[in-house]
Amino acid sequence: MELHPDLVRTLITEDELKERISELGEEIARDYRGKNPLLIGILKGAVYFMTDLSRALPIPLTMDFMAVSSYGAAHKSSGVVRILKDLDTPLTGRHVLVVEDVLDTGLTLKYLVRSFEARGAASVEIATCLVKEGAQAEPVDVRYVGFTIPNEFVVGYGLDYAERYRNLPYVGVLKPSCYTD
Ligand code: IMP
Ligand code: MG
Repeated sequence: MELHPDLVRTLITEDELKERISELGEEIARDYRGKNPLLIGILKGAVYFMTDLSRALPIPLTMDFMAVSSYGAAHKSSGVVRILKDLDTPLTGRHVLVVEDVLDTGLTLKYLVRSFEARGAASVEIATCLVKEGAQAEPVDVRYVGFTIPNEFVVGYGLDYAERYRNLPYVGVLKPSCYTD
């Protein structure tokens, strides 16, 4: 696919995403066979990863979604996690796999894991499509990682800047001239 004019370069292509997600699917299916995991996708960024990853999992599972906001429209983390939409599913005794688009500062995931454990989950693990190298304030225990990327702001494959670019089928780096904050 042709590079969007607002992007500097492609970081991860459609084919690379597809191949890595199929590998992750095999690994996760092995680990969770017989456990009926609950996949919790974090809206909206994780929607693309959630739909692709879940289809790469040939095991019984259920899905739920939660919406949190940690950024507002800006491209710097505020450190404040706000619940915009909560889960529909009780977590008591469930094996939870949190499905996230990107681990940046790690503040969002740290908050979510704590909250899911407090709700009585039997286990809580994280699958994230991307991890930004060196961006975490404290280490975060992530079980499944798609790709480790440089600490740059990226868009596409669910990731937005001010709600734009989510539908690009690849991950790329936005031109600095396209930021308005
Ligand atoms: P954290 O709490 O700093 O780890 O941020 C996690 C959330 O911030 C992600 O789920 C994304 O929604 C957003 N985010 C972090 N880095 C990026 C990026 O490079 N592009 C777009 N959104 C990002
Ligand atoms: Mg976002």
